[in-house]
Amino acid sequence: MTSREIPPWHPGIPPIYDIQKTYDENAANGPFFSGEVPERKWPPEEQWTDFLGYPVASRIGVPAGPLLTSSWIALAAALGYDIPIYKTIRTQAHPSHPLPNMVYVDTQGMIDPARRMEPARLASSPSPQINDLAVTNSFGMPSKSPSFLHEDIPKANASLKKGQVMVVSVVGTQRSGATFLEDFVDSALLAKECGAKIIEANFSCPNVDKSAGCLYMSPTTVFDIGSAIVKAIHPIPLIIKVGLFASPDQMRDVMVAATKAKIRSIAGINTISMRVLDPSGNPALGAARETSGICGGPIRNAALEFIQTAAKINRKEKLGLTLIGVGGITAPEHFNLFFDAGADIAMSATGMMWDPYLAARYHQTQPLR
Ligand SMILES: Cc1cc2nc3c(=O)[nH]c(=O)nc-3n(C[C@H](O)[C@H](O)[C@H](O)COP(=O)(O)O)c2cc1C
Repeated sequence: MTSREIPPWHPGIPPIYDIQKTYDENAANGPFFSGEVPERKWPPEEQWTDFLGYPVASRIGVPAGPLLTSSWIALAAALGYDIPIYKTIRTQAHPSHPLPNMVYVDTQGMIDPARRMEPARLASSPSPQINDLAVTNSFGMPSKSPSFLHEDIPKANASLKKGQVMVVSVVGTQRSGATFLEDFVDSALLAKECGAKIIEANFSCPNVDKSAGCLYMSPTTVFDIGSAIVKAIHPIPLIIKVGLFASPDQMRDVMVAATKAKIRSIAGINTISMRVLDPSGNPALGAARETSGICGGPIRNAALEFIQTAAKINRKEKLGLTLIGVGGITAPEHFNLFFDAGADIAMSATGMMWDPYLAARYHQTQPLR
């Protein structure tokens, strides 16, 4: 199939992650993709971009989450996502929350972060327009065991072509025998041992306990954990994954602290945490999970505003951080909205799960000089 013949997306096309199946079933049997991989016209190497020391053929990728194992990374890379991120790993195997993990939601249009205390509603099917496609996810950051990762991460790296580079996402776990900081550093060391070329520390998962989810809001914590990881993984570059900030001042203080810690890059945003209610007004994912992270089209404006503010701070404070824009990219033209807003790199999670041809459609629009 040439890229000109990519079939249009419609709501009847199943996502590559089957939301009716458990996380483990998806990890073992997915990705569920039966289409053809379009032929790609690669840009000449002189048009490639440097990403944290690695030449990449394009500035688009998939953020941490949708790519569960090496089979998922291999598919994303083949489909033209040149910077795929290997799903967040922990120092020890960790189970997923039970089903449901992902449900469709109706947010009544773009989410205004100032009004995110208002609940979103459960929807029975995906929006007919991929632009508005919204889901909520609640997995609890499951992780495979270190022995699985020792085999699988090298396999994932090996599936990439020249002009592509994989990032491994890591997170700390509260456990006995180590402090949270020590465990966080150990998770990064595990990624390094497995052959990670670039590491991302998830400082922002909204579905784990509140304190872990808000790490990114404290400049001191970002500096303390960030600099400990940077020292441990040297010379591997470190990215931190963050969420929405309470104010531009808080964002500036965190970005300055990150630069002092020698963190090289900031990726944002993570999902926006909201209450999701079923038609009877009860929590859609059960009483134990009142809030969950919303992702997909309706978080795009918030993500774009995040990048605009981050780019302004980066310039004004001369921080030199590489900015990775994430959130709500569900159509090929959305990548450029992020570049225009000041992102160096742009990534799609929900959009690529429902329309895996997003990258091919984007590449189609790029002039080959
Ligand atoms: C299925 C799924 C799983 C995710 N898991 C993670 C994760 O393990 N670590 C992480 O940092 N972000 C995770 N995320 C958040 C995404 O990286 C991204 O920040 C968020 O989905 C917003 O992007 P989107 O609107 O393109 O989906 C996950 C998202 C999805 C959809």
